[in-house]
Amino acid sequence: MFKNILCAVDGSKHALRAAEVASDLAEKYGADLTFLTVSKELKVTEEVKRFMQVEHLTGSPQYILDEMTDRVLDEARDKAKKHGIAKPKTEVKTGHPARAIVAYAERTGVDLIVLGSRGMGDIEGLLLGSVSHKVSSMAKCTCITVK
Ligand SMILES: Nc1ncnc2c1ncn2[C@@H]1O[C@H](COP(=O)(O)OP(=O)(O)OP(=O)(O)O)[C@@H](O)[C@H]1O
Ligand SMILES: [Mg+2]
Repeated sequence: MFKNILCAVDGSKHALRAAEVASDLAEKYGADLTFLTVSKELKVTEEVKRFMQVEHLTGSPQYILDEMTDRVLDEARDKAKKHGIAKPKTEVKTGHPARAIVAYAERTGVDLIVLGSRGMGDIEGLLLGSVSHKVSSMAKCTCITVK
């Protein structure tokens, strides 16, 4: 049924659950699996500063952002490994997350997009984040929103 699965990850626990579901489906369908994260434009945000403090990191902001991105993809890769997918594809894009996810899916013939219902945003009580909402509205293929 599904041949080319795209899972969008942003480092949130919701996205990790999405990675779990995407890996399970990729295993069951024998599909290709890609993890995509859309990283921020270079800007030293509070999030970056906190990450640097917690990890005792010194270095350029670009280096720190790259480390954060690597970590997001590593966590997703671990989920795939547990489902016997040793080498899922990983991609990093910058820009508007929803547009970048949909554009990538269309360009590469993705037939299923898997996302978390929420992400790193912290607006309490929100049931569906804006990226989830926009991707499922704009995408031409099937989308699964993992709760
Ligand atoms: N930058 C991103 N790169 C890749 N995937 C993303 C990105 N941001 C969100 N996602 C995907 O979308 C899902 C839902 O996140 P979303 O950003 O919509 O919710 P939120 O952060 O709670 O709300 P909002 O960002 O609207 O304040 C995530 O679990 C993840 O799968
Ligand atoms: Mg978000």
